[in-house]
Amino acid sequence: KRRHLAGIPPGPTPWPIVGNFGGFLIPPFIQRRFAQQADSRETNAVVFLTKQADVYGKVYSLFVGSQLMVVLNGYEAVKDALSNHPEVFSDRPTIPAVTIMTKRKGIVFAPYGPVWRKQRKFCHATLRNFGLGRLSLEPCILQGLATIKTELQRLNEVSGGAGVDLAPLISTAVSNVICSLILGQRFHHEDHEFRTMLDLMVRGLEICINSPAVLINIFPLLYYLPFGVFKELRQVEGDITAFLKRIIANHRETLDPANPRDLTDMYLIEMLAQQSAGEEESSFTEDYLFYIIGDLFIAGTDTTTNSVLWILLYMVSHPDIQDKVQAEIDKVVGRHRVPSLTDKGSLPFTEATIMEVQRLTVVVPLAIPHMASETTEFRGYTIPKGTVVVPNLWSVHRDPTVWDDPDTFNPARFLDDDGKLLRKECFIPFGIGRRVCMGEQLAKMELFLMVTSLLQAFRFRLPEGTPPNLQGRFGLTLAPCSYSVCVSPRG
Ligand code: HEM
Repeated sequence: KRRHLAGIPPGPTPWPIVGNFGGFLIPPFIQRRFAQQADSRETNAVVFLTKQADVYGKVYSLFVGSQLMVVLNGYEAVKDALSNHPEVFSDRPTIPAVTIMTKRKGIVFAPYGPVWRKQRKFCHATLRNFGLGRLSLEPCILQGLATIKTELQRLNEVSGGAGVDLAPLISTAVSNVICSLILGQRFHHEDHEFRTMLDLMVRGLEICINSPAVLINIFPLLYYLPFGVFKELRQVEGDITAFLKRIIANHRETLDPANPRDLTDMYLIEMLAQQSAGEEESSFTEDYLFYIIGDLFIAGTDTTTNSVLWILLYMVSHPDIQDKVQAEIDKVVGRHRVPSLTDKGSLPFTEATIMEVQRLTVVVPLAIPHMASETTEFRGYTIPKGTVVVPNLWSVHRDPTVWDDPDTFNPARFLDDDGKLLRKECFIPFGIGRRVCMGEQLAKMELFLMVTSLLQAFRFRLPEGTPPNLQGRFGLTLAPCSYSVCVSPRG
């Protein structure tokens, strides 16, 4: 049934108490339920939300319990809200489970305002420093790739044709980039402390997203229950806190202001500078740094890891495209040196392929929820203050009004007639507006170096008799289902 209420965007009639979902914050549950009914990619929650736009329009509303949520579909609606009305649509809602963890500090879930702005500006500028100069992360990424290549070859040999699961190798390399950025150090993939911390973060997220702990979003007091996943969640949170606090304390003790080693050092230097300038109200504190470190780990690992995994999965599923990418790398880089960032502009087909996989897979399909910070008129509707606003980035990248044949994998759509790369305004896998991904440049650098280095070194294929499976699974991000590959060194 269609609902029309006091000027808000149309949408389905909500059930009493639970609204239209019985909890938007449990999409994996929704997806699992759907997936059990039919084994089709079409059944995931993101596609479901996209299809609702055919019934209710590009801007429609749903109720999560009694909370009003507006879903923006297609490029025009998303751009109109986030780029043309940034002052209204750049806030973040309070999600109980997330607020318990983040205290609304850090960057990702911090409310839109002067504190978020200052922290983001500082971190963004610092991240840019890691793209070039003494602190460049390129050597770190290449070092990680050298390890992956050796490990991949070894595991491939011992697998006897069954193939290798790439996920742990890629995940370690990506996490190591964030470690270098924040902690100034790399870890061996078997390092006990590093593995423990990564396992804790993954476990913490799993509990928050894929266990009865999601009910904390509806009944926040459940968090304090002294048993089951609730108790485990508090334990995991405590262990991560102890780990990060140890790192910050260690940095403070060994800080040399003339030689910052990483983002943590730079933050501490800024903090001390503001203190000695007598800025009593400064938001630069060790407490805030703690939440920023957590944010960067969470925002920067799963997203990039899954993007690399998707790209390699598309390569084994479309061997003709893999051939073309490898031919371009061979022509421009050759096989005697590893690709570097300076090759980026000379590898348009490779770049177009990376972009096309990002378009089709959109690893953060619903962005991060936004919130209207005041009541506003938007596209003929009233959006009340406090409405949760969901930019459906998935729908933007499958929008038939801006993409020809949107479901087809076709890297050439990003190239002009001369084979040069086309920048498309409606390609926004990192979001758009004031809350656009802060790590976009770093992520692009990692994707480029990882994909080109691996494809230069190996021919990838699926194990004998394994059909390609391009179905995604929706957790923290949209990830490919786990798969294995066989590799042949290219010499
Ligand atoms: C936010 C995508 C990698 C840090 C976001 C958002 C998206 C996104 C869609 C939400 C935008 C919005 O709310 O409208 C991606 C993708 C990545 C990636 C696709 C990899 C391929 C990274 C990396 C970092 C990072 C490597 C950091 C090192 C952040 C932060 C935010 C964010 C801090 C929150 C920004 C804010 O609220 O102001 N990202 N991201 N991301 N991302 Fe990324």
